[in-house]
Amino acid sequence: MELSGKVALVTGAARRVGESIALALAARGAVIGVHYRTSAQQARQTVAEIEAKGGTAQAFHADLQQVGEIEAMISEVAAAFGRLDVLVNSASVFYRTPFENVTERDWDTFLDTNLKAPFFAAKFAAPLMRRQGAGKIVNIGDSAGVKPYNNYLPYSVSKCGLIGLTEALAKTLAPEIQVNCLAIGPVLAPPQYTPAQIDGLVRSTLNKRLGTPEEVARAVVFLCETDFATGATIVIDGGRLIA
Ligand SMILES: NC(=O)c1ccc[n+]([C@@H]2O[C@H](COP(=O)([O-])OP(=O)(O)OC[C@H]3O[C@@H](n4cnc5c(N)ncnc54)[C@H](OP(=O)(O)O)[C@@H]3O)[C@@H](O)[C@H]2O)c1
Repeated sequence: MELSGKVALVTGAARRVGESIALALAARGAVIGVHYRTSAQQARQTVAEIEAKGGTAQAFHADLQQVGEIEAMISEVAAAFGRLDVLVNSASVFYRTPFENVTERDWDTFLDTNLKAPFFAAKFAAPLMRRQGAGKIVNIGDSAGVKPYNNYLPYSVSKCGLIGLTEALAKTLAPEIQVNCLAIGPVLAPPQYTPAQIDGLVRSTLNKRLGTPEEVARAVVFLCETDFATGATIVIDGGRLIA
């Protein structure tokens, strides 16, 4: 797909990895829907940064744990820009959940945000993409979806499910829409991580460094511009899975 003039919605695009993905797609000429939930000011900054470089963007609010809000957001994007070509499901929750302490609320938060929301976003985006005869969906996963992290069981299961969802959606939405997943390794540590924890992440990779949001964003651009890949999960983790 040629991205210039196409419309891309990136969830969780106000900051961190999602922001880099939005900026990279905008740099290829795509019009960007910048989704946010709580980071309204950062979303406005992402929009301003895209506009300062000559691009077009607009911020859209939704709590992705509410299916009705996902549906409303997709409708608002279609109303604002007239079409939707690319959906990047990047928004996610990530926090430590030792097995004994996992509550039903934790389980629902992880599964609703990281798995159910990407499904419903795809469900509401697909008719718009099919109407145009083409579309791309990129799910941002985690290497934990392949090899679960200790003490992050619901998160790991949600990301494992995202790999399965990617394959099932690719099959369901073929041949017009390609659906792929990136299973990424450590890129931006959570803000509360100590230097020792960050050092542990660095040492866990073969590359002996964290990835960058720009490296993830380049892979998203690749998956949007390539038409033959579908149902694939590409691991970009500095070799952590095989270390
Ligand atoms: N960072 C890493 O090193 C790393 C490693 C492996 C995989 N990943 C994956 O890469 C993606 C991006 O990572 P990240 O670290 O940039 O993510 P993040 O900072 O943990 O979260 C991204 C955004 O998700 C949004 N979000 C959370 N719950 C939401 C909800 N209920 N409704 C709407 N939005 C919600 C938040 O938006 P607001 O701020 O607007 O509330 C947040 O800014 C995620 O899918 C993550 O699992 C990241």
